[in-house]
Amino acid sequence: MTEIFPSKRVPIPRNGVDYRGKVVLAPMVRSGELPSRLLALRYGADLVWGPETIDRAMIGTTRRINPRTNTVEFTRLSSNGLKNPALNPDQRESIIYRIHPELERGKLIYQIGTANPETAVQAATLVAGDVAGIDVNAGCPKPFSTSGGMGAALLRTPDKLCSILEALVKEVGQVFEIGISVKIRLLETSEKTEALVRKLVATGITGLTIHCRTTPMRPRERAIRQQLRMIASVCREAGVACVMNGDVEDREQALQLIQEYGVDGAMLATAAEKNPSVFRSKEQGGKLPWFVVSQEYFRMALSVENRWGNTKFLLAQHMMGKDPKYQAMNQGKGYEDCAMALEMHDLREEAANLDEVLGITNRQPRAEKRARAREFTAQMELAPPKKAKQDNVLQILNIPHDAPAVAV
Ligand SMILES: Cc1cc2nc3c(=O)[nH]c(=O)nc-3n(C[C@H](O)[C@H](O)[C@H](O)COP(=O)(O)O)c2cc1C
Repeated sequence: MTEIFPSKRVPIPRNGVDYRGKVVLAPMVRSGELPSRLLALRYGADLVWGPETIDRAMIGTTRRINPRTNTVEFTRLSSNGLKNPALNPDQRESIIYRIHPELERGKLIYQIGTANPETAVQAATLVAGDVAGIDVNAGCPKPFSTSGGMGAALLRTPDKLCSILEALVKEVGQVFEIGISVKIRLLETSEKTEALVRKLVATGITGLTIHCRTTPMRPRERAIRQQLRMIASVCREAGVACVMNGDVEDREQALQLIQEYGVDGAMLATAAEKNPSVFRSKEQGGKLPWFVVSQEYFRMALSVENRWGNTKFLLAQHMMGKDPKYQAMNQGKGYEDCAMALEMHDLREEAANLDEVLGITNRQPRAEKRARAREFTAQMELAPPKKAKQDNVLQILNIPHDAPAVAV
């Protein structure tokens, strides 16, 4: 690959990373949690972006180390935990963000959702010592983001976006010596995109990712590449790294596109969500079969005590819906069932232990227990025994009165 070295470069801070020549995992809510990032890194992703985390969600969290998994966790009291002080401390808290300091060192970019320079700085400061960069999401088209003035709404308020980036550069980037970057979408015309990019690259950022779709475009619509050379050249002129995103299928294609369009790096989302082994090079044998990837993912998820609902969701992205192994996994209630479905019998005990830790006791989510309790009560009402009461039903089914909802 011929690298294009610009004459000017925004200096890369001591604890930051240069995005040039990198093939990276995109930020993905739900699909970019810790085990997905670790697997992408294992298969050869050069850098990983964490899922967008809104500034207000991060502010007020407590940073702690989980000694069982060696992970850093930013936690806060969950709404369930607030209601139920009888729960054990782990089950009262929600984990807002998780990092594996050893395996993600120098590779993790924290993506922030924000519409305000002060709260952006407050939230980013909490995590800045644990990551290699902070990226501002200025591309999410979903109403939950745009209605608060965040995500793609920032493309319509460029002065606000610039003031957020400038505040982060000065108060977080310079203080922690990490890079600040931004992820945007295309505007309707090349002229509008160019005017925006020119403003953004003057804020002191070290990188800019361009998702090659406009805000109204659906994810299935093909990415547009016509503006890419122009964006790359504006970034190069300012010494800012330009990462392209949109319909990049694997490492080989990423490297070709980097050369073809003169960009500095490429970012993969959907392709990596379905099969993170797309980061493997041709020499390493490229993409692996889904079952092998699912087994590896399961191992990762188990090792970091990932939330079961998230693990199940991610496995469903890898798996072929009609495959009997998928059906078995999908009907499973927790890690132990899943270990069996994935034919990982050696992990059964460890998986059962994790079910205990996560409160997936007797592997039956609360909603199902309640449903069974209701069925049981209905049957009792048809033919009531002497003292068949709801309380007894709950006892028979081993549900405490104030049982916590099991996160699935
Ligand atoms: C499940 C999912 C979650 C996403 N979450 C985010 C996010 O948190 N932040 C963000 O900037 N983009 C997010 N995106 C958009 C991707 O980062 C990426 O820009 C988009 O999917 C285009 O890349 P692709 O064509 O490789 O899928 C998400 C996409 C998917 C599929």
